[in-house]
Amino acid sequence: MRLTKEFRDQFIQHELRTHGRKNGFVTTGQEARLMHWLPLIGLPKEKTLADANILAGSPVVMEVGFGNGDFLVYLAEKHPEWTLLGVEIYLPGVAKAVSRLEEAGVIERTRITQLPAQFVLEHQVPEASLDGIHVNHPDPWPKSKHHKRRIIQKEFAALMVTRLKPGGYIKLASDKPDLAEWMRDILDVTPGLENVAGIGCFVDRDEERPETKFEQRGLRAGRVSQFLHYVKP
Ligand SMILES: C[S@@+](CC[C@H](N)C(=O)[O-])C[C@H]1O[C@@H](n2cnc3c(N)ncnc32)[C@H](O)[C@@H]1O
Repeated sequence: MRLTKEFRDQFIQHELRTHGRKNGFVTTGQEARLMHWLPLIGLPKEKTLADANILAGSPVVMEVGFGNGDFLVYLAEKHPEWTLLGVEIYLPGVAKAVSRLEEAGVIERTRITQLPAQFVLEHQVPEASLDGIHVNHPDPWPKSKHHKRRIIQKEFAALMVTRLKPGGYIKLASDKPDLAEWMRDILDVTPGLENVAGIGCFVDRDEERPETKFEQRGLRAGRVSQFLHYVKP
């Protein structure tokens, strides 16, 4: 089954400018799963979380750049009462995640979108509606002339704060020391956030969390990841 034009127009966005890959190979089986699931759990561009049939009272936690979806599966299995909003611009990643979430039997408690996280937060997530946000190993963009492409920027940090409920959290991870420090330095001075470890500090790794693909990749290259935890008081 191939993705139809109507389906692409609704669920697969290419006109929004992002840095990083959006396209790549998706098998026909994965396409069939996308065509089945995204009309049920997708978040098309014109809809907001308020239209997404979320069970009343369910905490809503977002993951930005979920890659292959393993961490989303972990969160959904660990917190059966949560609804997970997964955001990932790379279509093959979305396709893999949909398969893994389906196999784990947790997909109906997720809302999945291929739109960029900046758009989703600004236009589709109402203020004070998220209980938490995870950002695991965002793209490092190592050259200084590309640092402006990093997802954690002053404006994005301020936007995240507005979308969190009071008491909500932001957790981040990176295996790249300069990116970990970049994220910490921005979030430490973002009004409305408190660094749980103290200004300038990282938290210990939560031993329960699974190693994501990029944490593993860092370990193979000899890089130990660093972790950040903020709360909106
Ligand atoms: C380095 S990978 C990390 C994947 C996964 N979180 C992990 O830890 O293995 C960064 C991911 O962020 C996604 N990404 C980049 N920019 C994004 C954006 N604006 N909105 C959503 N996802 C984005 C990329 O497509 C990529 O899958």
